[in-house]
Amino acid sequence: MVCVWAPTERSATAALEGGRVVVLPAGFALHPDELTLRNPALLGGSKNISLTPDRMLKHAAGPAVVRLRLKTMMARFAAFARDTVEALAPHYRGALIRGRTSFRPAEIEGRTVSALKDDTRLHVDAFPANPTRGKRILRVFANVHSHAPRHWRTGEPFAEMAARFLPELTPNPPIVNALYAAVGATKGRRSAYDDLMLGLHDGAKRDLAYQAESPKKPLSFAAGTVWVCYTDVVMHAALKGQYALEQTFLLPVEAMAEPEQSPLRILEQMTGKKLV
Ligand code: SIN
Ligand code: FE
Repeated sequence: MVCVWAPTERSATAALEGGRVVVLPAGFALHPDELTLRNPALLGGSKNISLTPDRMLKHAAGPAVVRLRLKTMMARFAAFARDTVEALAPHYRGALIRGRTSFRPAEIEGRTVSALKDDTRLHVDAFPANPTRGKRILRVFANVHSHAPRHWRTGEPFAEMAARFLPELTPNPPIVNALYAAVGATKGRRSAYDDLMLGLHDGAKRDLAYQAESPKKPLSFAAGTVWVCYTDVVMHAALKGQYALEQTFLLPVEAMAEPEQSPLRILEQMTGKKLV
């Protein structure tokens, strides 16, 4: 699963599109005046602090001066993440759509959340309120803890997971998705693809037997490292760790080097249907 990228090996684009996690040893470092931001008390009633693509800071507590510092740090990480992806995968230049930036100051281990929000369970990412209509979810992470690693586990290949859960899933009738969009429950209209991806996310997280028995591998990221992967295809669970930054990019399937490796094309192949 893991590919510690070396320019002499196969291209990082191929590794990412093949469902691997690309780990970069040289990472993103906090500035001295940002070190005190490693504080879970700065969370304002959510799992993560977010910076929207239009530069709005969300779910941050604390005085204005601290929120400004958070915003500056997260914007700097967003720029770093774009440079990183463009250097790793020059093919994507010009096609990457900036999504949210998140700062994750809470310890993962021991957090009490509902099954569907529980990221310690293996899953692929799917956004309930923000349908991608087939676009890829490419994420850049940085462990900004002073010394502790962030512990993940990765699971079986996407197609194998999908073969298990797909038979249980039916996309919503289009009228239902139109209604969700009309009342503002979703940002734009969900496609059958979004319904299936959310179904796979929920199906895997709800199935405790699957969680216990499915193939898995531990993967830890040392303090100071950065990693990149398509979290819509890499089965992943975050088990333990504190203080990470994450940047989401969306990428149109047509901008991939090998679009047939996208979950959209894989699911279309498996269902025999057009899903967007
Ligand atoms: C996740 O995407 O499931 C969580 C990843 C992390 O916070 O390390
Ligand atoms: Fe996830």
